[in-house]
Amino acid sequence: MSKVTVIGAGNVGATVANVLAHRDFVNEIVLIDIMGNFAAGKALDTWQQAPIDYYSSKLKGSDNYEDTANSDVVVITAGIPRKPGMSRDDLISTNAGIVVSCVKNVLKYTKEPIIIIVSNPLDVMTHAAFKAAGLPAAKVMGMAGILDTARYRAFLATELGVSPKDIQAILMGGHGDTMVPLPRYTTVAGIPVTELIAADKLDAIVQRTKTGGGELVQLMGTSAWYAPGAAAAQMVEAILKDEDRIFPVCAKTEGKYGLDMFLGVPVKLGKGGIKQIIELQLNEDEKALLTASANAVKEVNDVFDGMNLV
Ligand code: NAI
Ligand code: 2OP
Repeated sequence: MSKVTVIGAGNVGATVANVLAHRDFVNEIVLIDIMGNFAAGKALDTWQQAPIDYYSSKLKGSDNYEDTANSDVVVITAGIPRKPGMSRDDLISTNAGIVVSCVKNVLKYTKEPIIIIVSNPLDVMTHAAFKAAGLPAAKVMGMAGILDTARYRAFLATELGVSPKDIQAILMGGHGDTMVPLPRYTTVAGIPVTELIAADKLDAIVQRTKTGGGELVQLMGTSAWYAPGAAAAQMVEAILKDEDRIFPVCAKTEGKYGLDMFLGVPVKLGKGGIKQIIELQLNEDEKALLTASANAVKEVNDVFDGMNLV
């Protein structure tokens, strides 16, 4: 039996539940939202899709944390999204309190869940959840790198006229404009991407990736949900199926890369959460970019710590 709870039944949370249901490997999916019956409606809608799309995962939505009891994995998407002109960091004053309260409520009914944070500012909210939860570092993580690399891979697929399936990439750092796409670790069906694309075009794609979230906020007036929801669902799948997938994940670096903080790094994801943090042999330029990104995240971590919420 496996049970997944998704907190926040808005655009991203409802998508996580919907994608998980379609993958049909979770026995029970619970959606929680503070907005009255909203989560119940989203869960019922996805359940009514089951006879059409053929899946059996049971779905329940409510505003009652008792329904989350004994969850294997909890995905937290509760909080406000960006509006045009806002950075992810602008969300901290609202979302920090929300994320901390969600973590505390979850732990009343499940002793040691694996927690995946999606709410922004992502790296800082993951740091907040870790402090609020008191769980082992392997069990608290944030979703950002899968989304950011997916954007990078999608832009490359368009530019090269190839299937996105054939593009493999890794990306590090915080989920913000300082993120660090790594062209040296990007391949197209095993071929280094640098052999297939001019340097200026690759630079433009790296730049577009860094501001990829903002591009969607400008287009839609709020932030994205299909790719973010699918990315979080992919992490849940890797964990519950013990797949040992290698993904960029916001994880506690535990001394790797000379850092001890939550930041996007390549990890091995499977049963129990993060099994390993993979340390790449970064060159001096890449190290400098990672350090700059870590410093940007640390500044906002300090703001969170100063709020004295945990
Ligand atoms: P949304 O506004 O559609 O949904 C958020 C939901 O959270 C709402 O239904 C709201 O009622 C609920 N909520 C608020 N406080 C709550 C609480 N205390 N307990 C339970 N539910 C609560 O927003 P959307 O688009 O789903 O985004 C959610 C968050 O995810 C935002 O902070 C956004 O910035 C972030 N995000 C992060 C991404 C990433 O890559 N890490 C990608 C996309 C969004
Ligand atoms: C995104 O990158 C806003 O973090 C959200 O789409």
